[in-house]
Amino acid sequence: MVVHVFDTPAQVAQAAAAVIAAQVLQKPDSVLGLATGSTPMDTYRELISLHRGGVLDFSRVKSYNLDEYVGLPAGHPESYVSFMKRNLFDHINIGSYSLPDGSARDLQRECESYEQAIRDDGGIDLQLLGIGNNGHIGFNEPGKAFTYSTNLTTLAQSTIDANKRFFDSIDQVPRQALSMGIGTIMEARSILLLALGEAKAQAVYQMIRGPITPRVPASILRGHARVTVMLDKAAAARL
Ligand code: GLP
Repeated sequence: MVVHVFDTPAQVAQAAAAVIAAQVLQKPDSVLGLATGSTPMDTYRELISLHRGGVLDFSRVKSYNLDEYVGLPAGHPESYVSFMKRNLFDHINIGSYSLPDGSARDLQRECESYEQAIRDDGGIDLQLLGIGNNGHIGFNEPGKAFTYSTNLTTLAQSTIDANKRFFDSIDQVPRQALSMGIGTIMEARSILLLALGEAKAQAVYQMIRGPITPRVPASILRGHARVTVMLDKAAAARL
């Protein structure tokens, strides 16, 4: 695990965009794993500006997002597909993108076909991750065992509390989501995890210095051969 600490969130975004840009330049038909949340938003802005400047061509890139809420009506502004369109896909020439379909009738089958689609495309070259305040990655919440493949997950109360800022009231925050599993994430050929702000400092500390345990899902990343972690000073405060 390579850990970089930057002075500002803007530097994290520039560095993260540089890694993603290098991936796309070196392999124009890359399969990218993408993330939602406030953390990667500036990174996406950097990628959009590289694209607009004629530096990055995404036309052969395929992307798979980590997760999607279950139970939000199609087109809801806070669905992760809406988020990704607004913050990235509508502004670049991405070849194709996929997210798990949280409105699928058969959610179990949707999980299986999402997993299969990733495999059929040759697996993920670079997976971008944020981290939850409680150490979750994707929506793999702390628990007794690491999840293997894409799964239907129930959000931890701390995640519902953290995500309520995007909704009018806490009752509107979905309680369930479809998420790539820890196994899906660990199969990516390389991983880039970003964390910003003091609210993430404890989770970052546990991920890097604590025991490898399903109680801190991100801690498993220490078992992956190619993980880069980019932090701002606040998120690195406890290291
Ligand atoms: C959500 C997402 C995660 C994300 C986390 C942190 O729960 N499922 O993929 O990493 O929130 O979000 P933020 O970047 O807004 O702090």
